[in-house]
Amino acid sequence: MRQAVVIEAVRTPIGRAHAETMARWQGAHVSTFTAESIAPPIARDWPEIRGDFPVLDQAVNGQPLIYFDNAATSQKPRAVIEALRHYYERDNANVHRGLHELSSRATAAYELARERVARFIGAANADEIVFTRGTTEGINLVAQSWGGHFLRAGDVVLLTEMEHHSNLVPWQLLAGRTGARLRFVPVRDDGQLDLARLSDFLTPEVKLFAFTHISNSLGTINPVMELCRAAHAAGAVTLVDGAQSAGHLPVNVQEIGCDFYVFSGHKMCGPTGSGALYGRAELLNAMPPWHGGGEMIVTVSLERSTFKTPPQRFEAGTPNIAGAIGLAAACDYLDAIGRDRIFAHDVALAQQALERLAEIPGLRILGPREERGGLVGFVADWAHPHDLTTFANESGLALRGGHHCNQPLMRRFGVTGTSRASFYFYNTPDEVDRMIEIITAAHRFFA
Ligand SMILES: Cc1ncc(COP(=O)(O)O)c(C=O)c1O
Repeated sequence: MRQAVVIEAVRTPIGRAHAETMARWQGAHVSTFTAESIAPPIARDWPEIRGDFPVLDQAVNGQPLIYFDNAATSQKPRAVIEALRHYYERDNANVHRGLHELSSRATAAYELARERVARFIGAANADEIVFTRGTTEGINLVAQSWGGHFLRAGDVVLLTEMEHHSNLVPWQLLAGRTGARLRFVPVRDDGQLDLARLSDFLTPEVKLFAFTHISNSLGTINPVMELCRAAHAAGAVTLVDGAQSAGHLPVNVQEIGCDFYVFSGHKMCGPTGSGALYGRAELLNAMPPWHGGGEMIVTVSLERSTFKTPPQRFEAGTPNIAGAIGLAAACDYLDAIGRDRIFAHDVALAQQALERLAEIPGLRILGPREERGGLVGFVADWAHPHDLTTFANESGLALRGGHHCNQPLMRRFGVTGTSRASFYFYNTPDEVDRMIEIITAAHRFFA
């Protein structure tokens, strides 16, 4: 498996991978990364895969834990925990600057992780991957660096009404600084974007169109290729928020045709505080630094500095080295299962939940009925989402209740919040049935 290769390369400092990686970050040789084929998925059944997650094997309030809060963060398999443990027990050192063994290993592992992430999302070159703390940081980076440099008063950033606050507030801050304006593609009652009106919004003033791939509240899967094509035809740059898609379905940024793609490691079995920004090389090369500090400079005088090329230009200070290595292990882990298989599994659970929730009186389900991702948001007319979520917790069921960082979207649907069940590949149909029993009991209790 790839992780074994990574760890082997880390253990063999004079190895080929190591030498290439060291040469690469020193700027001596920047190769174009060609995606090699990923090892085919290993056929394992779902119960065996579930056994990879130690945290799931516990009782909460005397009942078996049912973890349906995966859109907020996913659980971590042993392979990822082990990669972190290995790094801290054997290789921990700062990257890119030490001329000693441990620093060489840490640097090799960190840069190999970048290549692994590039392959995971189909980027052409590892230099197009900037490690971040997650989706939120990736969007802030683009807003401050690209937006701060290229946007002028009167320019428009086009968003949609279904954006997470992470893909809204950074643009509001930018608009406040530059005089740029924000515009929003409306969401229809069925939870789909109103694409019939897209051309009304994609006017020549639009310089950037940023949208989510999968809505974290509605489950809507947006037609990202179509949106990118339309934006480019109108002369706009595109950013795809992949927080809910990267670990849930096969993603290829070159096929999508986006300029930027951002995602969080912790939502796809990786460590918290890890994630990546993909930026097309041409765009990243034209962007100024956003954070200043060590690692991102070439020369520094008391008055001014010169900066490295991307991605180092955007990674000031000591990065989250363990996070990147854990993220690469998560990429290996998910690809060994197969993201197409994961997607089919999660969507089947969501369909089961949709059908069975319809049996419970007074429930309104938000979002499309079909062609949706693996999550379901619903509102009961007999209980506040927080009360329902607290009730569920008494039976060991982890739902999420609230606005899910989607306040404008909640207002659009006339609710203050929803209860959300979000699924991942280690969840089971039996757990969905158990959720229905618990919500039915809540109905008896509250109604
Ligand atoms: C669609 C979407 N975008 C952005 C985010 C923010 O992700 P993070 O908090 O990992 O930066 C989330 C998190 O729930 C999300 O669902």
